[in-house]
Amino acid sequence: MARVAPSAPQIIATKGIGPGFVPFTIVLTIINVAIALAVIYLPLNFLLPQESNPASDSAVGIDALFKFMTVFGSAITIYVSGYTAYFAWVFRRRPDEAINTVGVPIHDAPKLEFWWTLLPTVLLVVLMAFTIVVWKQINFPTSAAALTMEVVAHQFNFEFRYPGLSGSLYSPQGEMHLPAGKPIKILISSGDVIHQFWVPEFRLKAAAVPGLVTELNVTPTHNGRYDIVCSEYCGVNHSIMQAQLVVEPPDKFDAWLSHERVAVAATAGQVQLAGGDAGAGKTTFTAKCSACHNAAGSYDQKIVGPGLNHLTDDPAHPKLVNGDDPSPENIAMLLVKGYQGPIGVMPNRQANGLSDADIANLVAYLISLK
Ligand code: CUA
Repeated sequence: MARVAPSAPQIIATKGIGPGFVPFTIVLTIINVAIALAVIYLPLNFLLPQESNPASDSAVGIDALFKFMTVFGSAITIYVSGYTAYFAWVFRRRPDEAINTVGVPIHDAPKLEFWWTLLPTVLLVVLMAFTIVVWKQINFPTSAAALTMEVVAHQFNFEFRYPGLSGSLYSPQGEMHLPAGKPIKILISSGDVIHQFWVPEFRLKAAAVPGLVTELNVTPTHNGRYDIVCSEYCGVNHSIMQAQLVVEPPDKFDAWLSHERVAVAATAGQVQLAGGDAGAGKTTFTAKCSACHNAAGSYDQKIVGPGLNHLTDDPAHPKLVNGDDPSPENIAMLLVKGYQGPIGVMPNRQANGLSDADIANLVAYLISLK
């Protein structure tokens, strides 16, 4: 079959940029101005929680930055997609033109190239300056912290440590409290995998990385109760890894902290064992203990630590590794304090990231191994 040589494209010269360019530009500009006004002045609570009443000093700068980016981002989107549609329509192929008709290629439009280089450059430089100002506010606070506290993330709870407290508070039972109006330094770390500490109303989040301490500086500005969310996928229960933050007047905060000092000291090491769930304990055991302990076999079946079958009724091993009787309370205490002795080392509850509920569940599981 003979090949038909394709005919050369027919080039047609087009003049100008179409009759509707100016009115169309006016319409796009009106849309952009309307969006800008809405973003700046409407309370956009669905975009920014507590937008009209930000809960931290840093929220003010971050919200302004967010609005700046939204206004210019939407303008760029609307002009670019609007003109793309406009020119596609104005320079469409007419029915009387050949199928391979093309427009005149444009080269060297110095004026156009000047403006499309200058405008984005100026915009990005302004954005950079704005970002640096806000970033500096957050990372280099002007006043010294009135309170430094620690957050340690675990699979799957948050541990809160306060100065003067002999033990930690664990979510979800334990809440994080902060005094309003005081500069706070929060030191954030992780006991296992990478998590993320996030308080949406503060507009601040920080990665919780094992072996690393990250820092958040914040002055809470409004009393209230806020959600703390883990915003980095950290395992099967990531979605329920949440906690509560209470921001309250400084005198109320002080009263809370002194109460916790007494309460935590009184119950240090004591874990409420009632309601422990052996099934949940098995899951925790598999996740956190099974690297070192075997649940099957005899007490002698050692991996790194002893096998734990018949923990409570093995005639050959009537005592726990620390010499205590194998009562549920003593097993719980061993989990709380950890162990260091001739046969090895077991980390304590902080290092293992065990909440009260985890310990109750683990004890229920361990005493069920018969
Ligand atoms: Cu912790 Cu996701």
